[in-house]
Amino acid sequence: MPKRPFYVSISGKGGTGKTTLTALLLKVLLEESTDDDVLVVDADPAMNLPQILGLSINKSIGDVAEEFRRGFERLDRFGFEKSALLEYYIMRDCIVEAERFDFIAMGRGEGEGCYCYVNSLLSGILGKLVQHYSVVLMDMEAGLEHLNRRLDRHVNTFIIVVDNSLMSLRTAEKMREVIKEVGLRINDIYVVGNRLPSTREEAVIKWASQNMFKYVGTIPEDEYIAEYVANGIPLLNIPRNSKALEVAYQIAKNINLI
Ligand SMILES: Nc1ncnc2c1ncn2[C@@H]1O[C@H](COP(=O)(O)OP(=O)(O)OP(=O)(O)O)[C@@H](O)[C@H]1O
Ligand SMILES: [Mg+2]
Repeated sequence: MPKRPFYVSISGKGGTGKTTLTALLLKVLLEESTDDDVLVVDADPAMNLPQILGLSINKSIGDVAEEFRRGFERLDRFGFEKSALLEYYIMRDCIVEAERFDFIAMGRGEGEGCYCYVNSLLSGILGKLVQHYSVVLMDMEAGLEHLNRRLDRHVNTFIIVVDNSLMSLRTAEKMREVIKEVGLRINDIYVVGNRLPSTREEAVIKWASQNMFKYVGTIPEDEYIAEYVANGIPLLNIPRNSKALEVAYQIAKNINLI
C-alpha cells in the first residue's frame, strides 16, 4: 500500500545522485500512481532540478523572501498581515504548475543573517504549503547543513544516496545522528546505492544493515542518463528500457511510494 502523506528528503554527500534519483522517482510516480497532488521541491541552492525536469522557474523562495525583507519596514506603516502577504507572493511567483505536479525552488539564503522573523514566517508557510500535497519529493543540498534548517522538519521519510566513496557512507552515518539530535520525527530512513561496482554492492548492503538503514536498491550506471543530461533532454523522457528507471521502479515499491 502506498504511504500517504509521503514527504521525502533525498539527501546525501555531494554528487552521489540525489537529483537524478529525484527525477527518476518522479517519473515512476507519474507513470504508476493516480496522485494528482504532487509537489517537487528543489532545496539545493544550485538549482539543477528545473533543468533536469525541463522546467523554467520564475522566482525562488529565496528571491521572494529577499524582496519581502527589503520592503519590510514599509509594510509596517501600512499594517499588512505579513504572513498572509508573503504566502501570497510565494503562491503567485514561485509555484510552477507542470503537467501533473507542482514545482518550487528554495533558492539561496535560508537562515543567513538576522532575518529571524521572515524565516519563521517562511517556516510556517512551507509547513502549510506541503499539507496541500499527498506526495512531496525534496531534492536536498549536499551534506548535512540542511538538517538544521526548516525544510526537513516537514518530512516523514528520508532517502540517503550513497556511492562508491567511503565519505558517502560516513555522511549517511552522521546524517542519522543529526536527525536524532535535532529531533526530526522520521518513520523511515532508506539508503539507495548509486553506481556501485558489483564487487562493492555486497559490502555496502552489509554496512547499511549494520547501521540500521533499510537498503532499498542499487541504481546502475545508465547510458540514457548520461546521454540525456549531456544533451539537456529532460530525464522525465527517459525510455522504459532504461536500467536505472527499472531499479527506480523497484525502489519506489520498496519504500511504498507507489
Ligand atoms: N546512475 C547514473 N548513471 C549515469 N549518470 C549518472 C547516474 N547517477 C548520476 N549520474 C550523473 O552524475 C552527476 C551527478 O549526479 P546528480 O546531479 O544526480 O548528483 P547530486 O547528488 O544531485 O549532486 P549535487 O550534490 O551536486 O547536488 C550528474 O551529471 C548525473 O547525470
Ligand atoms: Mg543535486
